[in-house]
Amino acid sequence: MLVSKINNTDINYCIYNASGVRCSTKNELNKLNISKSGIVLSKSCTINSRQGNSLPRYWDNNLLSINSSGLPNLGFDFYNEYKCINKPYFISLSGMKYDDNFYMLNNLNNHINGIELNLSCPNIKGHSQTGYDFNQTENFLRKASEILDDKKSDFVFGIKLPPYFDEHHFNKIAEIINNSKVNSITCINSLGNGLVIDSESESCLIKPKNGFGGIGGSVIKPIALANVHKFYSLTKCSIIGCGGIKTGNDAFQHILCGASAVQVGTTFYQEDTECFNRIGDELKEIMINKNYKTIDNFKGNLKYL
Ligand code: DHB
Repeated sequence: MLVSKINNTDINYCIYNASGVRCSTKNELNKLNISKSGIVLSKSCTINSRQGNSLPRYWDNNLLSINSSGLPNLGFDFYNEYKCINKPYFISLSGMKYDDNFYMLNNLNNHINGIELNLSCPNIKGHSQTGYDFNQTENFLRKASEILDDKKSDFVFGIKLPPYFDEHHFNKIAEIINNSKVNSITCINSLGNGLVIDSESESCLIKPKNGFGGIGGSVIKPIALANVHKFYSLTKCSIIGCGGIKTGNDAFQHILCGASAVQVGTTFYQEDTECFNRIGDELKEIMINKNYKTIDNFKGNLKYL
């Protein structure tokens, strides 16, 4: 009932992990491999391994999460060599420099089913988010498209975008994507550089960047839905919804806005792999009540008043 496709890659289950959460180590990837998650997506990697920012670098409650992890990861070779037996395996790439990304794209192993090129990491001091610089994004995607040109037709060339809030920005970035070989878009990364504070201690809640970090969780769902629906309307790419998915109803809304699959971040952090079963069961119950047999029966069918 929850089968789907991303570009030409079939997936048995349209719910999987958001990059960054519980997908850094071999144990975590193995656990995802045997879970319900429809895909295994790695932590964003850099060429060399990194420790990341100092702790505490994550905080959450029922409504939101804030993180400033700083790209802790085991390095490209580890993720490039990891093999996933049960389902498609995608790696998220987030090089510290453009050339690092080109190096990783040029050296991808053949067993990697797709990539999620991260245009939106907000947590590295002194680095701006590529997705907010249209010229950089255009040049970057042109070169990445050339490198990936000889990949098979079912290879997923995905990008992960930051949230956009402006009509002109949606149109501009969609035009750049439509002139590239990108075939999948994950909307959205965390809202960059939020600040969550505690009144009693009169303090911020995470240590890096004087408390500034990417905001995720339920509070970002309306922004995620808007971005999913815009890029669904403006491109031919498969859209992956990410942002505020805690329940089957949240997943249903993302799919109604045009998502072919959804990623779970904050809730996966809170509940571990069991969240994929629960959210999927809740989504199936909604579909049964509405007499939908597959997600294609309602994908993108959002009604306007
Ligand atoms: C990190 C955070 C992100 O939102 C992202 O896209 C990549 C990396 C991090 O801080 O590790």
